Amino acid sequence: MARKKFIAGNWKMNTTLDEARALAKGLVEACGKITDVDVAVCPPYTNLQAVGEIIKGSSIKLGAQDVHWEAKGAYTGKISCAMLKSVGVTYVIIGHSEQRTYFHETDETVNKKAKAVLAADLRPIICVGETLAERKAGRLTVVAERQVKGAFAGISEADALKCTIAYEPVWAIGTGEVATPQQANEAHQFIRKVIVSVYNNAAAEGIRIQYGGSMKPDNVKDLLALSDVDGGLIGGAALKVQDFLGIIKPV
Ligand code: 13P
Repeated sequence: MARKKFIAGNWKMNTTLDEARALAKGLVEACGKITDVDVAVCPPYTNLQAVGEIIKGSSIKLGAQDVHWEAKGAYTGKISCAMLKSVGVTYVIIGHSEQRTYFHETDETVNKKAKAVLAADLRPIICVGETLAERKAGRLTVVAERQVKGAFAGISEADALKCTIAYEPVWAIGTGEVATPQQANEAHQFIRKVIVSVYNNAAAEGIRIQYGGSMKPDNVKDLLALSDVDGGLIGGAALKVQDFLGIIKPV
């Protein structure tokens, strides 16, 4: 069965409450009825509830940018799965390279978060991808295999099928330098092979793999035409209604 495309906007640390409300309203008007592609927005924690109320009743789903794996307690600054659920979150981004680079995210914490998210009946979007130095050193496959195997360790096939993987080459994030279609498809195909080795063909065929890294209206067509690219995780271009719409529409 063909995998349904999935476009998610990662707003990162952008939008005050008023800005988030305005963006969400614009998105509901522009693409709130689109159903042939799955669409989600991932605002900062402070704007989840407000954005959730605005997109309610539309086809756009709510996502968060991170979560803590513990259920509750003395973890100052952290947010639990139950808290995210209580404001209407469906998807949770885990292991974004900015978390890995700046906030000590490891394959082990990605795995703990993925398990917590699945146990709460939420949907993880698990980010993987190599740095420029790793790519130049020919280590893309080593890094991607380690990250994918680490993220899915101990997760059942049924739960794995509820996950999305986002392949985000770190050198393409926010740089304007997009992976060529060939680079993207090769990486996605390699990730699918890793899924085969962890699970089986059915899991590899079922799990969606988004591309992320400077995806824009002018390059989206080529990327989404690739056999193994099942959507996008969008940063900068998710912050303007017309840009985000320009990515969803060609799907
Ligand atoms: P950009 O689209 O701004 O490159 O960001 C991609 C990203 O990191 C999405 O999670």
